[in-house]
Amino acid sequence: MISVKNLAVSYGQSLVIPDLSFSAAPGEILGIVGRNGMGKSTLFRALIGMIPTRSGSIHLQDKEITGQPPHRRVASGVAFVPQGRMIFPYLTVYENLISGVSGKVSEDAVNEIYALFPVLRDMKKRQGGNLSGGQQQQLAIGRALMTNPSVLLLDEPTEGIQPSIIKDISRSLREIRDMKKLTIVVSEQVLSFVLDTCDNIKVMLSV
Ligand SMILES: Nc1ncnc2c1ncn2[C@@H]1O[C@H](COP(=O)(O)OP(=O)(O)O)[C@@H](O)[C@H]1O
Ligand SMILES: [Mg+2]
Repeated sequence: MISVKNLAVSYGQSLVIPDLSFSAAPGEILGIVGRNGMGKSTLFRALIGMIPTRSGSIHLQDKEITGQPPHRRVASGVAFVPQGRMIFPYLTVYENLISGVSGKVSEDAVNEIYALFPVLRDMKKRQGGNLSGGQQQQLAIGRALMTNPSVLLLDEPTEGIQPSIIKDISRSLREIRDMKKLTIVVSEQVLSFVLDTCDNIKVMLSV
């Protein structure tokens, strides 16, 4: 599980997150809800370690990960699906899937992702940039799962995706949670997706 206590994050003098606390248990899907500019992406960048925190703490189970570089957090069990998906457009679907794995690639793990998202198996030799938005989102989620995380972070996974596919993503996330008993923290602006997907909700308001 992940536990965030009194987290503050700023860009220079600009304090974007003044004081945020929440926790999510194993098998829980927590929705982080807030309008544009409320600091959802800033929160996720701080959780994965792309930007420093000003104060507060982040724990994974009993282990404090605040201050660790991103690769150490990934090794500790955190995985991140960034806003906009950040697929490598000129790498194939398969190459994208294994791009976050350090060391030997487990083909069993790849097959598990293909079982979860069959379209990725059908398109494994295609370039990532040629996939639709929804397929790219599945690829980004699959890539994150390849590191076998205990906490999966997703920043606005429904952005720019058509409603029928949004329902598929919601179903996949619940399926992944049921299968792996992991913790999922997902930021969103689409309320229907949050209501369909999440067990609990944390609202980010302006300062
Ligand atoms: N790299 C940055 N430098 C300075 N300010 C930033 C940076 N990125 C985001 N911000 C500001 O931080 C606030 C929160 O942004 P963001 O975390 O992207 O919000 P959200 O994801 O909820 O839309 C906004 O006011 C935004 O302008
Ligand atoms: Mg954002």
